[in-house]
Amino acid sequence: MNEERTLIIIKPDALQRNLLGEIVGRFEQKGLKIIGMKMIQLEDAILAEHYSHHVDKPFFASLKNFMKSSPVVVMALSGLNAISAVRLIVGPTKGYEADAGSIRGDLSLSGQTNIVHASDSSGSAEKEVARFFKSEELFDYKKIDFEFVYGEEERG
Ligand code: CMP
Repeated sequence: MNEERTLIIIKPDALQRNLLGEIVGRFEQKGLKIIGMKMIQLEDAILAEHYSHHVDKPFFASLKNFMKSSPVVVMALSGLNAISAVRLIVGPTKGYEADAGSIRGDLSLSGQTNIVHASDSSGSAEKEVARFFKSEELFDYKKIDFEFVYGEEERG
């Protein structure tokens, strides 16, 4: 089974708008397994690392201010092809362009306050999970719905 891990940051706008449960629920309902979850306050150093490809962009200062404006919730999820599956559930960056049914399509109208961050590739996912979680904060456990979330051949 091509089990992948991916990182989600539930952003300050989601917490302020009381959307935390809604967002966690969407990932749970899909069948993804939560293997790590915590609330943290982001700071300049980790944001400069996490958004290193954006540091020279004109919106970087305002992105940092937004991401530090309240705590965030970080989650590590695992599942079959989890990286691409999560990106479909989340939708493209700009909420006003995202399809209805996706988290951003249903809950955001913005290119910045877009509810969640999700890892965009297998290269970045492993780095991002390791950036936000120590190994002892990630849990390997059996979920009783496994046999019904996946077909026999997928379970391997
Ligand atoms: P995210 O998926 O976390 O990746 C980078 C983030 O930068 C993005 O979501 C938005 O929150 C933010 N972002 C991207 N483009 C813009 C923009 N043009 N103006 C402001 N913020 C942006």
